[in-house]
Amino acid sequence: MIINSLELYSFRNYEKETITFDNSVNLLYGQNAQGKTNVLEALYIAATGKSHRTNTFQDLVQYGKPGFEIHLTAEIDGRTNTILLKYSRDRGRYIEINGIKRDKMSEILGTLNMILFSPETLEVVKGSPSIRRKFLDILLCQTNRQYLYYLQKYNNLIKNKSVALKKWKTDKRYEDVLPVWNEQISVYGGKVAFLRVNCVEKLNEYMKKEIGYIAENKEVSNITYKTYCTFDKNCDEKYFENELKLKLAQGINREFELSQCLIGPHRDDIEILLNGRNSRHYCSQGQQRTLALALIISELLFIEEVKGEKPVLLLDDVMSELDSKRREYLLNSLYDVQTIITATDDLPFDNIKNKKVKKMQVVNGKIVC
Ligand SMILES: Nc1ncnc2c1ncn2[C@@H]1O[C@H](COP(=O)(O)OP(=O)(O)OP(=O)(O)O)[C@@H](O)[C@H]1O
Ligand SMILES: [Mg+2]
Repeated sequence: MIINSLELYSFRNYEKETITFDNSVNLLYGQNAQGKTNVLEALYIAATGKSHRTNTFQDLVQYGKPGFEIHLTAEIDGRTNTILLKYSRDRGRYIEINGIKRDKMSEILGTLNMILFSPETLEVVKGSPSIRRKFLDILLCQTNRQYLYYLQKYNNLIKNKSVALKKWKTDKRYEDVLPVWNEQISVYGGKVAFLRVNCVEKLNEYMKKEIGYIAENKEVSNITYKTYCTFDKNCDEKYFENELKLKLAQGINREFELSQCLIGPHRDDIEILLNGRNSRHYCSQGQQRTLALALIISELLFIEEVKGEKPVLLLDDVMSELDSKRREYLLNSLYDVQTIITATDDLPFDNIKNKKVKKMQVVNGKIVC
């Protein structure tokens, strides 16, 4: 997949700008607060329907303007695709993919595949379980159309169940309703857990190799999905559904007691181990960076395996965070991947793997050269 061009109208500090990208490495450089990350944010929104920095589209509208527009042209499988995303305070969100209006923002997911690596990616390694679940959800939504459907169904059921568990204190009729809802919850929750388990297993294989390369086989990683039941490689979707059904039935009284949804994949986590120890508690910052870097490369390989196409890699301000060895490893992994990098300096590379780097200077919401 290749992004050809991006047009921005009243988006953040871009009044009106068209940016064309090279199919290999693109460098957006400039001083702080000039609009480098804003470009990556716009690209990420065109791929996922969401910003990685804000949940409110209003923040993205240029100060004093009624709304913004993002137009993107990309080549996927040799065909040109267009994405148009508009937002205005009065009319809300509007999307077109290849000239056809789409009703849901979520339909944008999976059209373009992008991976964003920013200093915040470290949070996947060292932050809370919800960040890791989000990481996995975005990856699975980009690569599996059905996953998004299952996840939305599951999340809605959990939302309703949470409300019901609270109301139960005054309305005991929910005692009859909840077992019925739990049946549905196990169906969708089981599917979500099964797909996540498979994804993490694949990421684990890739990561072991990548960590081996970066750390010259001195360190060993292991990532596993932690869910409501134990499992092995032979467990199918039905197994996860049945286990969830069982656990929900066993735990229903406790859920009533605490008025909380205690069991199910909304509580799951990915355990990231380095040399057998939990990365959140034992790793140095350098080791956490190594893990984050290996995870991103593994994500890239996973998307390529599933979609048969390499995603576009967005690297926000990460070069300065990496030492020369890790930087070299990252750049060497970029072979044949379209990459858009932001940095505060005009980085000391003109070529990567003999490919020319397209450099663009960003000054106050304009690409100046
Ligand atoms: N809604 C908005 N309207 C106008 N300008 C905005 C809006 N939101 C953010 N900005 C401006 O965008 C600029 C920040 O852009 P961005 O985050 O892309 O900077 P950057 O070049 O990545 O900087 P850094 O090197 O510090 O990461 C700031 O000047 C900010 O005031
Ligand atoms: Mg920035």
